[in-house]
Amino acid sequence: MIRLISFEGGDGSGKSTQLRLLEQYLAGRGRGCLGTREPGGTNLGKMIRRVLLQAGTEEISSPTELFLYLADRAQHVHEVIRPALASGTLVLCDRFTDSTLAYQGYGRGVDLGMLRRLNEVASGGITPDITFLLDCPVELGLSRAEERSSIIHSQSSATEDRASRAEDRFEREEVEFHERVRKGFLELARTEPGRIHVLDASRAVRDLHEEIRKIVDEKLANGE
Ligand code: TYD
Repeated sequence: MIRLISFEGGDGSGKSTQLRLLEQYLAGRGRGCLGTREPGGTNLGKMIRRVLLQAGTEEISSPTELFLYLADRAQHVHEVIRPALASGTLVLCDRFTDSTLAYQGYGRGVDLGMLRRLNEVASGGITPDITFLLDCPVELGLSRAEERSSIIHSQSSATEDRASRAEDRFEREEVEFHERVRKGFLELARTEPGRIHVLDASRAVRDLHEEIRKIVDEKLANGE
């Protein structure tokens, strides 16, 4: 049975849009579900997200960064995901454990075996049943993310939004970092083809949504 669907991909891959579209589609078919995100799916997580994304020129060491993401996840699982799953609610999550492997593992070079063990602790052993990996060339994702940042920057008067998006630390990383993250996600998909579906995120939003819908409908119809 499908209980948890995660959306993964690089910055600007359009995960959040696809998550919302799937949420609306399922709601329209009477299949209520809960859309949530990491980092920032709880109140505590929002504080952690601000620390992570707003750090500006502060240097955050790799282990510090890792523990902040894991702390966010542990709280998110405890407060949101586990209770939702226990009540039979289908959960759609914008980023989950694979982001830690791709960003902290492949991106920052933290040992993957250790990350898997820590992910296990933070997630309490919960793994997604389906993961949609929205893959697109790094340059395309970064230019989309930059566009989004500048729109929010020019429109929003909310200090929090401005700081957490426009000054996103990851968007400031060099292209090679994002290339490593992309390769990492694709490598993960190769090792778990049954769970991780690689989708071409450079396609039109509607087309991508259609493909996601088809996969989910098929699995739900099969009682998976
Ligand atoms: P966010 O503003 O939520 O961006 P996006 O819309 O791309 O998800 O920023 C989240 C950033 O955190 C994103 O660049 C990926 C990164 N991240 C990690 O490095 N490790 C993790 O475990 C998670 C969940 C996210």
